[in-house]
Amino acid sequence: MQAAVSWVQTLSSILVFVIGLFLLSVVIMFIVDVTQTKHSVRRNFPVIGRFRNFFEHMGEFFRQYFFAQDREEMPFNRAQRSWVYRACKGVDNTVAFGSTLNLTPAGTPIFVNCPYPTLTEDAAPTKSLTIGPYARQPFEAQSIFNVSAMSYGALSKPAVLALSYGSKMAENWLNTGEGGLSPWHLEGGADIVFQIGTAKYGVRNSDGDFDDERLRKVGRLEQVRMFEIKLSQGAKPGKGGILPGTKVTGEIAEIRGIPAGEASISPNRHPEINSAADLLDMINHVRDVTGKPVGFKAVIGAYGWLDELFGEINQRGIESAPDFITVDSGDGGTGAAPMSLIDNVGLPIKESLPLVVDMLKEHGLRDRIRVVASGKLINPSEAAWALCMGADFVSSARGFMLALGCIQALQCNKNTCPTGVTTHNKRLQRGLVPEDKAQRVRRYSETMRKEIGTIAHSCGVAEPRLLRRYHCRIVQDDGRSIPLDELYPDAEVSTRAA
Ligand SMILES: Cc1cc2nc3c(=O)[nH]c(=O)nc-3n(C[C@H](O)[C@H](O)[C@H](O)COP(=O)(O)O)c2cc1C
Ligand code: SF4
Repeated sequence: MQAAVSWVQTLSSILVFVIGLFLLSVVIMFIVDVTQTKHSVRRNFPVIGRFRNFFEHMGEFFRQYFFAQDREEMPFNRAQRSWVYRACKGVDNTVAFGSTLNLTPAGTPIFVNCPYPTLTEDAAPTKSLTIGPYARQPFEAQSIFNVSAMSYGALSKPAVLALSYGSKMAENWLNTGEGGLSPWHLEGGADIVFQIGTAKYGVRNSDGDFDDERLRKVGRLEQVRMFEIKLSQGAKPGKGGILPGTKVTGEIAEIRGIPAGEASISPNRHPEINSAADLLDMINHVRDVTGKPVGFKAVIGAYGWLDELFGEINQRGIESAPDFITVDSGDGGTGAAPMSLIDNVGLPIKESLPLVVDMLKEHGLRDRIRVVASGKLINPSEAAWALCMGADFVSSARGFMLALGCIQALQCNKNTCPTGVTTHNKRLQRGLVPEDKAQRVRRYSETMRKEIGTIAHSCGVAEPRLLRRYHCRIVQDDGRSIPLDELYPDAEVSTRAA
């Protein structure tokens, strides 16, 4: 009997010891998680955040039996996201065994490799490109890949800081989005594109009209290299920017010039732009006041207005032209928008980019007006397609959000972002440490450019700007592919390439 009692005592001591050990390790993991700076989710959700990595890892093994495949999720599937995560962590970005991409669906791009690819020693650095030759201060843009518009408001302070520092290191530009210019955009020293949204936040007077003095002041900042007038964005054409009241903090309200705590809703267009002539007037006004290059951003739907605009430019003289056009895809991202607009309004970039490039050529304006393409171009092959099609630059918003640690939780409009990217909740912002994430932003941008270069070299050209339509074929309904220059015949490009 006594032996049995001592046996039970030993067992309970072991149990107490094991539970103590377990609790101790939970405490240690808690301390490690809240003090480390690399993983936002673990920093914000100590200990339980570790399960995400565990399940993600185990998911690789079990998903094929139970859950989504690598190429299934939207807006970005796991393969696309994983590429960004690996790129920005600077880890090995090779994959084994073979492609998981199905090459038969219509629309799939296939690049045309050359039997004699460019040797590493023959590869050339991508040339910079001048934007706005007639502006008093043209901009010499270094990077083909840049940060697309996202406002301070939609993004958190640490997210903007990380983008600013990371963009400076990678030498790509950072677009402020329509929420005005904050000190956090400037802090890292990156080249800034100041976006003028329909509410003109940051450069407006109390009636919501341009305040030329404020515009001039922004233009005097050396770091601000260009101005982008936003006509529309892909996710919500015909609707202005929306920042829910929960995200309008005192500081954001001050930068925008609006009341704190109330939803910030921009008009659905610039009230003073009603025609091609009005648009050109505004472009030239901003350029005259600031001395910097000025372009506009739009998602394309109807396109007769472009003919009218380009005709008007040729009448006034090419100096009057916008210095660049940002063509955004109908399936672009947003901080908040109605689903009907997100889903079904505006052409996808696959259709609108060739349309705009070809119309510019028809009007003899292709060399005068630079083209920036955006919309789900977050991996090298998608960006390389855009360059083949005729874009001069590619920009991305959500690619850089993934680099900042976004896990596609799709709560950007709720102020509850678990990774601190799109929330003003200080506790959740703790997870995003700008110094760490700036390095991820840098690596993502640099790896994108490097691997776009790898595709270019495989096609036999020395650098990405030499990619042409005939370097890319598109799979058709019958499973056969056709070169882009046959799908979109382009006399000028074909002659240059011959
Ligand atoms: C959080 C967030 C905020 C955005 N804010 C703006 C904005 O202020 N102005 C704008 O023109 N576009 C805005 N966009 C759209 C992006 O600039 C970009 O055009 C679009 O997301 C397509 O690029 P992507 O597919 O690489 O994200 C925003 C997108 C996101 C995801
Ligand atoms: S983690 Fe979710 S809420 Fe945060 S930025 Fe990404 S998609 Fe938006």
